Amino acid sequence: MQRHDHDHDHLSVETLREALTAGFWDERYGGSDRVWSGRPNQRLVEQVADLEPGTALDVACGEGGDAIWLAKQGWRVTAVDVSQVALAKVAAHAEQEGVDDRLRLGFYDALADPRPAGRHTFDLVTVSFLHVPVDDFGAIYRGIAAAVAPGGRLLVTAHHPEDVATGARHDHGPGLLFEPDRVLATLGADQPDSEWEVEVADTPDRVQETVDGPLAVRDTVVRLRRR
Ligand SMILES: C[S@@+](CC[C@H](N)C(=O)[O-])C[C@H]1O[C@@H](n2cnc3c(N)ncnc32)[C@H](O)[C@@H]1O
Repeated sequence: MQRHDHDHDHLSVETLREALTAGFWDERYGGSDRVWSGRPNQRLVEQVADLEPGTALDVACGEGGDAIWLAKQGWRVTAVDVSQVALAKVAAHAEQEGVDDRLRLGFYDALADPRPAGRHTFDLVTVSFLHVPVDDFGAIYRGIAAAVAPGGRLLVTAHHPEDVATGARHDHGPGLLFEPDRVLATLGADQPDSEWEVEVADTPDRVQETVDGPLAVRDTVVRLRRR
């Protein structure tokens, strides 16, 4: 993702929720500033490298860089997002890349129903950079985690809050960025008898290319396996 240009300091919960609507994202994806890079997120590539391809769900897939990369690796992918404009782009790119037979698309509004795929479950559920208000976090991330099949994995990638402290990123709003601990606590993965095995709970740094040049940023990366 590119560095955001908007200053999100001191936003109300209502305003934060507006930033989770189809209207907001359709406008962003319809704008000329968002260009398909085709690149998957670095953390997805790192974390999926040692997994055997199976079924995958990409939640809040955006323009589909991750979903199409997964399909190319042999995964049978379902990609969902609130923006129909984004989904139309994913469909077009998937056809261009010759993976449309391995990719299904679906509408998902996390605020309306946190479960992204009804009762369906997947070997891998991945969600990259879906930042939601703290009060909605539990319901949404538990809904997403419910889509992981027994023995399957949940991969969560997000911006780390320290990016705001270091000035690398504008504030998305209070509590929108999160550390691995929030994911673990939300799913009870920090408990000894948890149904989740914590495979990765990390905060790695990387260099992000922006219009202003290279920028050091920190990610939150959590990979869990459902026992
Ligand atoms: C920061 S982008 C990340 C996109 C993609 N995962 C990536 O890493 O490039 C956040 C994504 O969340 C989606 N989104 C926002 N609100 C949503 C909601 N209420 N339900 C589902 N997806 C939503 C947006 O349309 C957007 O594609």
